[in-house]
Amino acid sequence: MNELFLRALHCENSERPPIWLMRQAGRYMPEYRAIREKYAFLDMCHQPELAAEITLLPIKTFGFDAAIIFSDILVIAEALDMGLRFEENVGPIIERPLKTDADVDYLPKPDIKDKLGYVFAAIRLAVKQLNVPLIGFCGAPFTVASYMIEGGTSKDFKKTKMWMLKNPKKFHQILERITDLTIDYLNYQVDAGAQALQIFDSWAHVLAFRQFQEFSAAYQERILAGLKKKVPVILFSRGSSVFAEQMSAIGPQGISLDWNANLTGIRKLVGPNIALQGNLDPDILFAPQPIVKEETLNLLRSMRGDRGYIFNLGHGIKPETPVESVRTLVETVHNFIP
Ligand code: CP3
Repeated sequence: MNELFLRALHCENSERPPIWLMRQAGRYMPEYRAIREKYAFLDMCHQPELAAEITLLPIKTFGFDAAIIFSDILVIAEALDMGLRFEENVGPIIERPLKTDADVDYLPKPDIKDKLGYVFAAIRLAVKQLNVPLIGFCGAPFTVASYMIEGGTSKDFKKTKMWMLKNPKKFHQILERITDLTIDYLNYQVDAGAQALQIFDSWAHVLAFRQFQEFSAAYQERILAGLKKKVPVILFSRGSSVFAEQMSAIGPQGISLDWNANLTGIRKLVGPNIALQGNLDPDILFAPQPIVKEETLNLLRSMRGDRGYIFNLGHGIKPETPVESVRTLVETVHNFIP
């Protein structure tokens, strides 16, 4: 068993840093695209054998030091019968978004163990075959609520912010509902074998500093408190270069930084006892190979000697990313002499 990732999460790694990438099992891989030609994305998530197989693909191909279960943060909306689908070249669509106070009052109360049983089955299958730790995940309640209100991706999440500002009480109720379901969801993922968890707050950057505390951080704190088994948790947010201190105050094992952040500066800010993950600009992977290597080395050198550093990108890897860049990246990290 390769323990580098868990050791770094506990800030006890004296070897080279572990590496994994957000969205590592995805469309940049020809093997993924070949499977994807035959199935719709959600169908792939729904079939545990297939989801487990896809989870393993990037581990077998590139030798990443951690795996992340193949699923999506929006399956919670599906468990709430909101009509989730993924449209080609558009992204997620929620057919029955939250529009009125009554929509919130009449949200069903799903049994997560049953409704999302396919995720837990996929986790059980994947861990049996893996020689690296498996990360379970969820969306942060604020980010999940944003999709549930907008009905899909939005460029400014205006409906969400308007609701939040005009009726904060009801908005808090939405966040509470999602938080309760998410706590169950993560506890079942851990029961199924997930050895670490990551919470994705992809839309945190639309929030002002104080709003982040009230509408996002407070709920992530509740999630952490609701975990029965204290597996290490990593918090990711876009906006983490600004929110790093608030994120670390939530009390996770690690925080994942966007590519705007200067990791050595963040380390000084948050102290030595929290793991830092990130934060190569995902676009660097489109540069010529010598640049990919040089930029990777720059980041590695800047964190040399840091026992709690996990190499990752500042956000998910893009579908058009050249595979050879991923090979260069992984090779550079694996060969780095600490
Ligand atoms: O990282 C992994 O490899 C594990 C699986 C994973 C997916 N989505 C699979 C996926 C994870 C961890 C996610 C998280 C997720 N999903 C986030 C948070 C991370 C982030 O990127 O900010 C968000 C916001 C979503 C919602 C979502 N899912 C969007 C907006 C989209 C469409 C945009 C896009 O990239 O196409 C998805 C679809 C999705 N989720 C795909 C994958 C592999 C692409 C599906 C396909 O094959 O068409």
